[in-house]
Amino acid sequence: MSAATPKPVLEAPPDVARLEGQAIVHEPGALRALLQGWRRGRPGLRVALVPTMGALHRGHLALCARAREVADVVVVSVFVNPAQFAPHEDLASYPRTLAADCRALAAEGVTLVYAPNAVDMYPEGFQTTVAVTQLAAGYCSLSRPHFFGGVAIVVLKLLNQVMADVAVFGEKDWQQLQIVQRMARDLDHPTEIVGAPLVRDDDGLALSSRNAYLDAATRAQALALPRALARLQAQVAAGARDSEALVAEASTAIQSAGGQVDYLAIADPTSLQPLRHIDRPARVLAAVYFGKTRLLDNVALASGAAS
Ligand code: PAF
Repeated sequence: MSAATPKPVLEAPPDVARLEGQAIVHEPGALRALLQGWRRGRPGLRVALVPTMGALHRGHLALCARAREVADVVVVSVFVNPAQFAPHEDLASYPRTLAADCRALAAEGVTLVYAPNAVDMYPEGFQTTVAVTQLAAGYCSLSRPHFFGGVAIVVLKLLNQVMADVAVFGEKDWQQLQIVQRMARDLDHPTEIVGAPLVRDDDGLALSSRNAYLDAATRAQALALPRALARLQAQVAAGARDSEALVAEASTAIQSAGGQVDYLAIADPTSLQPLRHIDRPARVLAAVYFGKTRLLDNVALASGAAS
């Protein structure tokens, strides 16, 4: 650790395994025992969970920074969750960079990494499902119908295993965040679900582990997505209110740059119901393929003066 490295408020004991300087556990039982010991030793200790699939970038580190602001102990889970990939998707090739992830997290003052194995998360005979029916009905589910069922079950398991006071999720996955918040509320989960703002690269592209799949030419094309959303945002700020026209214009701009729009919609930020007329705060939600890579993005629309 360098002198500038933030120290975790509470450090894992020396007998916990280290990877690249970062304390790490793999078994749910070991995780539970550690957390129980910490809580027993320090009543009132606040624990934050940051669930990830690894391949960490600055966006994830911003989630950790947010977690450190609201808790004494930050647990980052790293688990490439098979349940949220369909058989034809990129589970096998999804970037797995645990050592580099741990190096980055150690420098971020994270207390513990929890990297469970698939057999512990999904033991033989596993058959339980969780469905957040209405919020998961459209958008990402149109092309990935299995996705939110897989996300909901793994997030619920992680929430149960860590029993954190707070869990931090990125707003880049806006639909996912709404679903996780709804699930925690519907199931009376004590963990508070907190969203942290999407982080963009200097060129405007939303940070995502899947950006690693883009070559330079495709990445240049992909900038059409944040540009189209920024333009749409500016149009609404200037008084445009007709969703259909705005969505059509943004979609055309993205398609002419070589993107294939999976969905692009203007919706209520919480219910995710599509809005025809933008007469209140709204969210633009988009998923676009550039080559084989599917990128997500979203921006807030402030309705400003009613019209
Ligand atoms: O957003 C992600 O990285 C994943 O969907 C999550 C929440 C870690 C569940 O696997």
